[in-house]
Amino acid sequence: METLIAAKEKLNEKGFLDIETPNINYVEEILRLKKEKNAVLLAHYYQIDEIQEIADFVGDSLALAQQAAKTDADMIVFAGVHFMAETAKILNPTKKVLLPDLLAGCSLADSCPPEEFSAFKAKYPNHVVVTYINCSAEIKALSDYVCTSSNARKIIDAIPKDQPIIFAPDRNLGDYLNKETGREMLLWDGACMVHEAFSMEKLIDLYKEHPDAELIAHPESEAHMLKVAKYIGSTSGLLNHVRNSDKNKFIVATEAGILFQMMQENPDKEIIPAPAKEDNTCACSECAYMKMNTLKKLYLCLKHELPDIEVDAELCQKAIVPIQRMLEISK
Ligand code: 13P
Ligand code: SF4
Repeated sequence: METLIAAKEKLNEKGFLDIETPNINYVEEILRLKKEKNAVLLAHYYQIDEIQEIADFVGDSLALAQQAAKTDADMIVFAGVHFMAETAKILNPTKKVLLPDLLAGCSLADSCPPEEFSAFKAKYPNHVVVTYINCSAEIKALSDYVCTSSNARKIIDAIPKDQPIIFAPDRNLGDYLNKETGREMLLWDGACMVHEAFSMEKLIDLYKEHPDAELIAHPESEAHMLKVAKYIGSTSGLLNHVRNSDKNKFIVATEAGILFQMMQENPDKEIIPAPAKEDNTCACSECAYMKMNTLKKLYLCLKHELPDIEVDAELCQKAIVPIQRMLEISK
């Protein structure tokens, strides 16, 4: 028994038994560790409310990359998904970049495997490659430009009109951009499972209940949703739209995490999440990857400085080129 107690104490000293300390105040501990380690906590709008509340900066993919590029913190804790933390690491190869759960991936990034994409690209040697930031470092390294949903139009417009383009990995965003810009970009056939889970049938029923509501949608949504949306934009675009609109009721077609900021900013407006299909696990358009980050995992990752993101130096050097190009054009 004594040996067991001694062993437990030893593990506790190293912090491995935090799982057994239920009384810990994660918020207080995260704030203390963040200060002690001079770490910055960056969070995406799709994170759980409790994380958004304590983050140093909450933003869309572009704003988060811009924050990562200019931070003077010693360490970056990324409350988002893997490709976001990986982008921050590429921008800060000498800094520690932590992601509370390494399994927080992205279905859209997964829909574009590097080997297949490389073979596809080889078939079109005259095309330049524009990739949505929701992709792996390997795909970024095969790209000429990176973009996000808030600057995609600007990036594409910066490329000469007669220059053929491959756009990857999101076919919905690519299709929307083709319509917006009048270009005929070749599209990679990838998609986000959250933005493809909205049900048109249920949306029509919802409209019958709320005929005065305005549908607003993220451009990762399918063409039939975008066709009926009154406003299409990135997460920050959707937030700006609701903030500045004189309308009072909105149906929002994007990941449900955005509702936290939207409702906080607009307490007098009615914000209704767009309904998902029956077969969606929670029928509420939540990204299971984004929701993998919890306060407890955030606390543990700050405490142990693990898991941290590693990107091979050579890959970093290649992947940073299209990211820097995007940051330059977006200034
Ligand atoms: P934005 O925040 O750039 O709109 O991206 C949405 C998204 O899907 C992030 O995973
Ligand atoms: Fe990826 Fe879609 Fe989740 Fe965004 S919402 S992280 S695109 S799976």
